[in-house]
Amino acid sequence: MGVSFEGTTFCIHTFGCQMNKHDSERVAGMLEGLGSLPVGTIEEADIVVFMTCCVREAADTRLYGQVASMKNIPVRDGSPYEKRYIAVGGCIGQRDGEKLVKQLPHLDVVFGTHNLASLPGLLASAIESAGHSVEVLEGGAEFSTALPADREHAWAAWLPITVGCNNFCSYCIVPYVRGREKSRPLEDIAEEARRYVEAGVKEITLLGQNVNSYGRDLYGEPRFDAVLDALDDAGIERLRFATSHPKDLTDGVIERFGTLRSLMPALHLPVQSGSDRVLKAMNRRYTRKHYLGLIEKLRAVVPDIALSTDIIVGFPGETEEDFMDTYRLVEEVGYSQVFTFIYSKREGTPAASMEDDTPREVIQERFDRLVDLVQRKAFEANQAELGAIVPVLIEGTSKRDEAVLAGKSPKNQTVHGPVPAGRTADELVGTIVPMRIDEARTWYLSGTVVDD
Ligand code: SAH
Ligand code: SF4
Ligand code: F3S
Repeated sequence: MGVSFEGTTFCIHTFGCQMNKHDSERVAGMLEGLGSLPVGTIEEADIVVFMTCCVREAADTRLYGQVASMKNIPVRDGSPYEKRYIAVGGCIGQRDGEKLVKQLPHLDVVFGTHNLASLPGLLASAIESAGHSVEVLEGGAEFSTALPADREHAWAAWLPITVGCNNFCSYCIVPYVRGREKSRPLEDIAEEARRYVEAGVKEITLLGQNVNSYGRDLYGEPRFDAVLDALDDAGIERLRFATSHPKDLTDGVIERFGTLRSLMPALHLPVQSGSDRVLKAMNRRYTRKHYLGLIEKLRAVVPDIALSTDIIVGFPGETEEDFMDTYRLVEEVGYSQVFTFIYSKREGTPAASMEDDTPREVIQERFDRLVDLVQRKAFEANQAELGAIVPVLIEGTSKRDEAVLAGKSPKNQTVHGPVPAGRTADELVGTIVPMRIDEARTWYLSGTVVDD
């Protein structure tokens, strides 16, 4: 590579899930390693990287709008280049490849989800040749974890344990853009965890599209419980994971919520629908009864575990009765948080060819009804925390007020509270402090730091 990146600047715009956010940390780590400086805005950047998501249509269209609007932003003063270089990676890059440069001719580089490490080389050849460079690979060539990372917070780390997905839920594009599930050897995961602990990391979030099937490809059977044990042994203070698939959540993993010191009492367990008929059409491979059975087992181990979920409203053919099954399930479980999505047709998935004649307004009305319920339930769940003293991992200050600390409780609730007298926010960031909860809102708690 004859091109030097010394003295250049870059910024990364990330869409989509934690997998993409983690990939962005790797991209940042690589570019910084080559001498490029991270900056916060497109205006200041010589190189702009979009890490894209196509799980729903909205994210797709947003990328096109953003890239198109960049044409009018002048090159920064002091840039070594005559133009701004634009690279698109992530899931749209993977899906569309060459097609993207046809639709967005001022794009310079397209890369996919399997070849993050190619980005510097692709940029260099675009700069040298003044043309486009596109590379999208079909299979998982590497684990991005092998690349350097520029982590957002010194005290928190994402640790991918699998990439890809084998589940092919009928609505979902992820298996097509992330490839087949591939697990990392347990020793590599444990080694990386130990390094993080030594570096002072307090919280690790294990990542995978379905962490519960971890190891099936390596060991012939899922071994996610062994990963949890290894992380706890490594001495991490707080352990979380995302995402779980209800069909693969084992009793062994459920038990760990009661036995492992580090495993936080919060679980994201996407249900998608409460109707057996819809679950079947979604190819989710569990029933409502099975799902509710898991909730019961989890609550037997940790009675006040904080549960969150994902729900799709308006899947093709969803009837009012199907929807009410979902509504009642949400009411029954009492989630702390629910991510609600309106079904979005993704070309190439089996659901895209299913009959879909429910009027848009009907779906929107169901969605609004569900959101109202979700908010009421989240408020109720937070009310139960009033008066409790909870250890809060301080993440920074509130976006609106620098004198207000913002952090996370073990149940992953956002907690706000004034910076205590004689302390500064900076010295508290990354530490765990006890806070008494004085006020509970729908999406956050407020409290006061108390003495240990
Ligand atoms: N692997 C994870 C997350 C996948 S994407 C899991 O299985 O839980 C995150 C969420 O996006 C999904 O849980 C689903 O609720 C939603 N989603 C995926 N495809 C969608 C589509 N075509 N339309 C609407 N929502 C979708
Ligand atoms: Fe998509 Fe289903 Fe895989 Fe999750 S488990 S990524 S929803 S196919
Ligand atoms: Fe989106 Fe890709 Fe994640 S499609 S949700 S960024 S795996």
